[in-house]
Amino acid sequence: MPENASPQMKPWIAAIHAYVPGKSKSADGKPLVKLSANENPLGTSPAALEALVQPRSPRDYPDPDSTALRGAIGKLHGIDPARIVCGTGSDELLNLAAQAFAGPGDEVAFSRFSFSVYDIAARRCGATPVEVADRDFTADVDALLAGVTDRTRVVFIANPNNPTGTFIPRSELARLHAGLPGKVLLVVDRAYAEYVRPEDDDGALELAARHDNVLVTHTFSKIYGLAGERVGWGTGAPGIVDALNRIRGPFNVTLGAQAAALAALEDQDFVVHSRDHNLAERTRFVAAIEALGNHGLRAVPSEANFVLVLFEGKLTAEAALHAIGDAGYAVRHLPGQGLPQALRITIGTAGQMDDIASVLRGMAESGQ
Ligand SMILES: Cc1ncc(COP(=O)(O)O)c(C=O)c1O
Repeated sequence: MPENASPQMKPWIAAIHAYVPGKSKSADGKPLVKLSANENPLGTSPAALEALVQPRSPRDYPDPDSTALRGAIGKLHGIDPARIVCGTGSDELLNLAAQAFAGPGDEVAFSRFSFSVYDIAARRCGATPVEVADRDFTADVDALLAGVTDRTRVVFIANPNNPTGTFIPRSELARLHAGLPGKVLLVVDRAYAEYVRPEDDDGALELAARHDNVLVTHTFSKIYGLAGERVGWGTGAPGIVDALNRIRGPFNVTLGAQAAALAALEDQDFVVHSRDHNLAERTRFVAAIEALGNHGLRAVPSEANFVLVLFEGKLTAEAALHAIGDAGYAVRHLPGQGLPQALRITIGTAGQMDDIASVLRGMAESGQ
């Protein structure tokens, strides 16, 4: 038998750093309160929970086209359901977008400090990821446009962005779109869009409705509190939806996920309550961080359900991470994403945010 007779992964797959999920346990296995994955601290809409426990036969495949769910999404957002595709989380759709429109020799561009899946999505279809400079942790439209070459096929932008929480307004998103060649697909990842005040909406759905080169993705994992059910959706021109439908899993959204997402959509009171809670607690938490500004702590402006806290003084992010862990909480340290000086902290309940703020205050003020 020849040597090396084992299957060899493709070099572009070997270049991928697997996605690192938020932790829920300490190094010694102790369970921690999870403020590391941007889940909804208020849980899930009671209507969605009720839908999840309804009897249904797991023997049967789910509706392959998520017809009822697409209809309800269309009704809520004023979109023709034919222009909507559902996914196993929005993560599936982000990957499919890269796979459908880019391949070996092509480039996929995104901002530094944006969602780590964009790099994976580009590499897994053999395309070249191109990371462009940010401006103070925010997507820089000029840099993104300057990063576009003849080989660019897809540009990803998360708005609000993860892990920074930053947001670009409608005028900037429109300027980004207007500056892109028509053959470049602009993917606007709106996983956290429901946390933005409706009056500040970035206009992405209008861009997707009017132009042939825009895909907007949403998820039920964040404000809708259904991360465990894995369901998201995207909308764009018929040609984009057609491409994604060709390559998605045929039964990609489970029976339970379709039912729960449908019920969750119909409970917009829960969404509004979650947004209001997040705004109030984020404002309070940011104020607590700003009060420690003389100790080198800084909160990156956030429109999402988390805040990226920078540690630019004596107290390091690593020391803070350990102290927060000792207090029973998991938050996100992202040295692998070029952010060794920062912690991304999900907005939890009032009591949880008070705990985190008090750990940070104690450490900063005692000069540790
Ligand atoms: C910016 C962004 N997009 C997409 C996702 C993927 O979410 P899901 O696959 O659960 O819909 C996340 C999850 O953390 C995210 O932060």
